[in-house]
Amino acid sequence: MPREIPAPRRLTLWLNGASIEVPEGTMASAAFLAAGVACRVSVTGEPRTALCGMGICFECRATVDGVPHRRTCQIPCRAGMRLETQP
Ligand code: FES
Repeated sequence: MPREIPAPRRLTLWLNGASIEVPEGTMASAAFLAAGVACRVSVTGEPRTALCGMGICFECRATVDGVPHRRTCQIPCRAGMRLETQP
């Protein structure tokens, strides 16, 4: 008989001032993607988001808990964290 896998705990955090919920273990870049929100805006005004997902391309930079230029693909979500699109 197969064992049931427990559902992951849900975390509540802030994305551009709005409250969102994500499963525990979600990376911050995935929270942006799930919400349909860009991580940052390019110098030409285009929305940018995670590309490589492994810390190389820097496309996923955003402001995390007030600290700019954080690579969100390398940061797991925590309850209460503040994610902001980087202008
Ligand atoms: S997605 Fe490439 S560094 Fe984060």
